[in-house]
Amino acid sequence: KQVTVAVVGATGAVGEAMLKILAERQFPIGKLHVLASERSAGERIEYGARKLVVEDLATFDPAGVDIALFSAGGSVSKEYAPKFAAAGAVVIDNSSAFRYDADVPLVVAEVNPEQVRHRPRGIIANPNCSTMQMLVALAPIHRKAGIERINVATYQSVSGAGRSALEELGRQTAALLNFQPADPQRFPVQIAFNLIPHIDEFQDNGYTKEEMKLVWETRKILGDDSIQVNPTAVRVPVFFGHSEAVNIETREKIIADEVRALLREAPGVEVVDERRPGGYPTPVTHASGRDPVYVGRIRDDLSHPRAVNLWIVADNIRKGAALNAVQLAELVLRER
Ligand code: A2P
Repeated sequence: KQVTVAVVGATGAVGEAMLKILAERQFPIGKLHVLASERSAGERIEYGARKLVVEDLATFDPAGVDIALFSAGGSVSKEYAPKFAAAGAVVIDNSSAFRYDADVPLVVAEVNPEQVRHRPRGIIANPNCSTMQMLVALAPIHRKAGIERINVATYQSVSGAGRSALEELGRQTAALLNFQPADPQRFPVQIAFNLIPHIDEFQDNGYTKEEMKLVWETRKILGDDSIQVNPTAVRVPVFFGHSEAVNIETREKIIADEVRALLREAPGVEVVDERRPGGYPTPVTHASGRDPVYVGRIRDDLSHPRAVNLWIVADNIRKGAALNAVQLAELVLRER
């Protein structure tokens, strides 16, 4: 059976990937609406071999839409997602607008897929990219040994901040190599050849909102409010692919060899863990443009009897956003 699908934010970095992944996975689309702001209404974008005309979200009538994938920012979701849901669509929302609402499920396809069914508001939230890839790798370990505490430092690519951020890294790199000033616009300071320990807004406790998402979303998705998470989120001059240095402390002792064996069987995970130069995943060599969450550098913590270190890398636009959203749409379809 064919369904009517709307992609909101279709001209953005995540929206573009959503369209690509829907086509790759042969999602059974009857009619497809690609929506964005009035700025890009009328433009043409590709879906497989077809060209589709971008429609203006503000004047679009959502009647008849079965599934809507939103990735146009929190304020757009807040205003329009409830309207689409009221018109009968199941909304899968990539923004953080509804993630922490008790009546909106927050779902990683490989971790808590059964939760998509409990959606009284017709809205399902797609987790933050950093939490997404971390939990694909950590959920199997949590089930086996019980994770008490997570220490994580992220190395996040600029694509997570949208198309304008990709352009800024390219522009600054070219400018600096030509002895021109970097002229930061999208980020508060130069990102090319630099690092920025600041993603999303600062909170009263000194952490950034991106860091707190790792705390709040980990607890909600794993359904365990006792898990302690200590995050540092850093933007790095990489175009695609987030990396994470993760240290987990477990309730039961589990050693690196067991973690490696467990993750070799885990859905959505690929272990790349050879102790030689290049025998580990990186954003460019492994993750960029691919679906799995890659895990390497698995080793016992020298300083703690029940702790293990891991290096987790994934394409933040695919598994971190668009791919998981399409997987959630597939779960919704299977209910029919
Ligand atoms: P537009 O291209 O018309 O601005 P990114 O995260 O890569 O910056 O993309 C953001 C996406 O969200 C784009 O598709 C953008 O469309 C869309 N968008 C931003 N603001 C609005 C809005 N007010 N109404 C509809 N779409 C919006």
